[in-house]
Amino acid sequence: MPIVWSADTQTFHLRNDSISYLIRVLENGKVGHLHFGGALSEERSYAHLLQREFLGFSNRLGEPVPLEYSTPGSGDYRIPAFVVEQPNGSRVLDLRYSSQRIFPGKPALGGLPVTYVESYGEADTLEILLTDSVAELEVRLYYTIFRDRPAIARHARLRNTGRAPLRIHCAMSATLDLPDSDWEFLQLSGSWARERHVVVRPLAVGSQSVASLRGASSHQHNPFVALKRPATTEEAGEAYGFSLVYSGNFLAEAEVEPFGTTRVRLGINPEDFEWALEPGAEFVTPEAIVAYSDHGLEGLTDAFAQLFRERLARGVWRDAPRPVLINNWEGTYFDFDEERLLAIATAAQGMGIELFVLDDGWFGQRDDDTTSLGDWVVNRNKLPDGLDGLARKVEALGMRFGVWIEPEMISRRSQLFADHPDWAVGLPARPRTEGRNQYVLDMSRREVVDHLFEVVSDLLSRAPISYVKWDMNRNITEPFSPTLPADRQGEFFHRYILGVYDLYERLIRAFPQILFESCAGGGGRFDPGMLAFAPQAWTSDDTDAIERLKIQWGTSLAYPLSSMAAHVSAVPNHQVGRVVPLQTRAAVAFFGVLGYELDPTTLTDEDRTVVAGQVAYYKARRELFQSGRFLRLRSPFEGDGNETAWMSVSADRKRAVVGHYRVLNRPNPGPSRLRLRGLDPAASYRVSAWPAGKDPIATANTGVRGGDELMRIGLAICSEDPADSRDRGDFHARLFNLEAEE
Ligand code: DGJ
Repeated sequence: MPIVWSADTQTFHLRNDSISYLIRVLENGKVGHLHFGGALSEERSYAHLLQREFLGFSNRLGEPVPLEYSTPGSGDYRIPAFVVEQPNGSRVLDLRYSSQRIFPGKPALGGLPVTYVESYGEADTLEILLTDSVAELEVRLYYTIFRDRPAIARHARLRNTGRAPLRIHCAMSATLDLPDSDWEFLQLSGSWARERHVVVRPLAVGSQSVASLRGASSHQHNPFVALKRPATTEEAGEAYGFSLVYSGNFLAEAEVEPFGTTRVRLGINPEDFEWALEPGAEFVTPEAIVAYSDHGLEGLTDAFAQLFRERLARGVWRDAPRPVLINNWEGTYFDFDEERLLAIATAAQGMGIELFVLDDGWFGQRDDDTTSLGDWVVNRNKLPDGLDGLARKVEALGMRFGVWIEPEMISRRSQLFADHPDWAVGLPARPRTEGRNQYVLDMSRREVVDHLFEVVSDLLSRAPISYVKWDMNRNITEPFSPTLPADRQGEFFHRYILGVYDLYERLIRAFPQILFESCAGGGGRFDPGMLAFAPQAWTSDDTDAIERLKIQWGTSLAYPLSSMAAHVSAVPNHQVGRVVPLQTRAAVAFFGVLGYELDPTTLTDEDRTVVAGQVAYYKARRELFQSGRFLRLRSPFEGDGNETAWMSVSADRKRAVVGHYRVLNRPNPGPSRLRLRGLDPAASYRVSAWPAGKDPIATANTGVRGGDELMRIGLAICSEDPADSRDRGDFHARLFNLEAEE
């Protein structure tokens, strides 16, 4: 049993082979935190971990250890786990242990996305009930420990047991106290077209955080942070990962107090949030996943990638091989008709591509981005036979058909806005701010979600649609819903995202065969919440392979390859104007769910043959690229960032592909070895290079090599012949295939 309760020492020990989480019911009935980290013996008692009380002007008075769910107003002056205002205006809370329940499996969180188990044996859950009899409040804390994962899933439920309303100002999903502050704060931050760059800074006394107030998890900051020791590398050292299964406004914060301890909290951003908790009502926080690794960042990646791929993603597409697609967006933008689309599909099919995706511009009067969002009716000028006609013609070519929608949005120039101007988010007395010439629909309103379900269901049932790209191209401004009373406007953002989840849930249930891909102007809502509905996401609007090295590297820290859509696009690249060889564009896009986003009719015959070869190469290793174990070898964020290397290894360690990328070529490079990881040291691997060639690097690495040699000595990635570097040019990539010999 991974959860043990000791009545003697009043301690809960949540334990598996990699981690231990220790909770103690204190003598005064409060629930304190003793440890989260590496696994500890099940046999021993840890009650002595209680420290002496701090006295005087400390940051914490009264308690010998930090509380599991800390409250303000009674001696702990650090960032609280939750804040509830009572009818008399007081925010002082005093929660005492009331009871506990330990049960197999893991509870669902009605309305919120959540990781799950498929059998009771996969996890055990501890529920601790805390009560505050003065505030008439119950708090239930949930801790699920997975049998085979170094991770704990947490959430809290707050219930009003009194007769007067309570007001929640803050309700974190998890807090964690660590006894020291010798950590670095790792965040995934950026902006549109350069999402999830790795940013690392040492923790300093005071508070440091990343957050979103945009109504989406955002391009700017991802709801994932890690704490790593300064010496922690990819493969060695301690690290904690914190991930919020949520797509709206979030906060991930670490506070270091002057005594050098650290508190981390993760949850819905308390800024711009309030929730009226009526008598009898319950508020459920989103789920937070907290993971621990004592073997570097790779241990966190393994934990999050596997959990999200295996037990967050759902439905038939969770485990199914994802199709190689062609998307017409960068190929045509709004300028297309059926003939042009079919020409693209025909050429793509000839290169082995399996799915044709029709992007923005097929509906209403939409020839640019100023109009028609909300009018999900096909534009017959462009597509005289409708979506249905086009889809059937694409299917007749032997491909599947997919379509783009942006359900949460409304254009001022649209029939929907003419009919329902109040459905657009905004305040009656103020102008609405436009973003990309559009407004946001009020997803907190039931009738809006119902309307969208009806319209989108109708669309999806009228044509053979196998895939949907669900876009969301702007953030929320003037947050306000006329349907919410004044004292509930603070609920708007959370209710918005609950509305989005509701629509997604209804659609994936009604159309279980459809593969959904989430998108928000690229990677503006690339988060675990979305992955519960759409198992893959458009990683970034930036399709330049060199930019993608950083974006995909950063994303890979917390998300599986199967979630990362990556496309080969035309050159000069549409975001940065860079001209990267076709081989390099593919060598980057292979690591994820491959697509092409260009007009293949404009390719030379030679390039079409090359693309056909790429698609065939990818399909032959699809499982490795989509669900292999991803290991980062050389970081684009370190040194001068000129080199990146990574690899994907099959679960049985019999196959691997290594990618090595060099941004700028340099004359006369010295010899260099790339040490691999994750292989079977006892196995012999047949190594070959892609593309095959007679150049010195391919030659130097072709042959049979021991797994031990590949990991301890490595591949030779620089030739010693200076003349050779001349031929490589900038933006060079090479892959190495490893196949274990029987
Ligand atoms: C933003 C997306 O990220 C693009 O891929 C494309 O779908 C456009 N929106 C269409 O408007």
